[in-house]
Amino acid sequence: MASYDVIIIGSGPGGYVSAIRCAQLGLKTACVEGRDTLGGTCLNVGCIPSKALLHATHMLHEAEHNFADMGLKGKTPSVDWDAMLAYKDKTVGQNTGGIEFLFKKNKVDWLKGWGSIPEAGKVKVGDEVHEAKHIIIATGSEPAPLKGVEVDEETVVTSTGALKLKKIPKSLVVIGGGVIGLELGSVYARLGSEVTVVEYLDAITPGQDAEVARQFQKLLTKQGIKFVLGAAVQGVSVKNKKATVSYKMRKDDAEAEITADTVLLATGRRPFTDGLGLSDLGVALSDRGQIEVDGSYKTNVDGIYAIGDAIKGPMLAHKAEDEGMAVAEMLAGQKPHVNYNVIPGVIYTHPEVGSVGETEETLKKAGRAYKVGKFPFLGNARAKANHAGDGFVKILADKETDRILGAHIIGPMAGDLIHEICVAMEFGAAAEDLARTCHAHPTYSEAVREAALACGDGAIHA
Ligand code: NAI
Repeated sequence: MASYDVIIIGSGPGGYVSAIRCAQLGLKTACVEGRDTLGGTCLNVGCIPSKALLHATHMLHEAEHNFADMGLKGKTPSVDWDAMLAYKDKTVGQNTGGIEFLFKKNKVDWLKGWGSIPEAGKVKVGDEVHEAKHIIIATGSEPAPLKGVEVDEETVVTSTGALKLKKIPKSLVVIGGGVIGLELGSVYARLGSEVTVVEYLDAITPGQDAEVARQFQKLLTKQGIKFVLGAAVQGVSVKNKKATVSYKMRKDDAEAEITADTVLLATGRRPFTDGLGLSDLGVALSDRGQIEVDGSYKTNVDGIYAIGDAIKGPMLAHKAEDEGMAVAEMLAGQKPHVNYNVIPGVIYTHPEVGSVGETEETLKKAGRAYKVGKFPFLGNARAKANHAGDGFVKILADKETDRILGAHIIGPMAGDLIHEICVAMEFGAAAEDLARTCHAHPTYSEAVREAALACGDGAIHA
């Protein structure tokens, strides 16, 4: 038995970041992880492997569609699927190995195995019970099941199975037009699969600024992805390795079916807290299975904290990281704060989508007077040179004060560009502050400045 100041259960972005920060702040720290490698869903079967496949297939798309126009003539590359999967696995290995290195460097003990909490102050891993003044639950989430859909991770897959299909399917039906469905749908569409997204709502990417969502759907349609919107999936049946998805149109109850080689279930995730012993401990959960915490990430049981996907809020790696750092700093006696109004969201398709803060819809609902500054990438010289003129930057600012309330970017490097606006929002900036900041030419970031200019006297290149 070992004794620690902090034991963190789970080594995803929430858990491993928290562990490193705890150790940096002088707390004796251990992190429990049952997988063979550190990094949780994000590094092993989520963000990182999907980004490797998105990058590789984007390169293929460029070679197929834009190389010749730039004078790059020659045979279009052919796809060696096993080699592409090996590249993805190598990327994952480099990242998970990196966390192991950081744990050693910061003297965080990795307790290998699945952890449970027999009582406050104790964490059991295998046959060993360790003591901890503080326990942080960072056990993340798992794909939410859907009634009538049985996942076998071969024909009917979640994101986990979709990252290691034995071969590229001729046809793929994606259930759910959210982030996972569109990212992985893009990967397979670029690889030549016929991809159909069946989405319950009348628009893709729920919660997204509606104008961006519409433009996004248009661009993905141009890339060959088909959409069936307003359709509630009723079930999936598998026969001879083919899957048939049955759905009902919400507007008139009309029933229809679609058959494909592979079906990806991407209708959301739910907190993963199995095996921790929370009900015996009396840790309060919400009706959606989220661990209830207060503003300091404390559960209702003394000495037990929770962060990340296991609690309320967007299921995003960076939100979990911020909470992980905050709880560590709090345990070390500091007074951290996570600003939930400035948590960016990014969809890593091409073009990318990056958003932060309020949407037009949330502002209208709140009855807040706002103005819109918009700038198309077609007016941006760098984007034109790079075949990346699709999309726009949209900044929403308070009508009276000009304070930036939100921003939505669909276009090249949107996931990076959005952070300039996040920093501005953290500093309570006005659109004019961005507009008066010199931006290097020619860069995509000039489109952000132009959108900020459009909140005032007008953009120059529009
Ligand atoms: P999501 O919540 O983003 O989208 C699920 C979609 O499925 C919704 O549009 C919903 O309306 C639809 N749906 C639900 N039931 C349905 C039914 N019966 N028939 C048809 N459609 C139905 O969930 P997703 O894509 O599974 O992602 C899970 C979580 O992982 C999200 O919180 C997401 O933010 C996170 N994630 C984030 C990534 C990123 O930041 N780039 C990448 C991948 C996942």
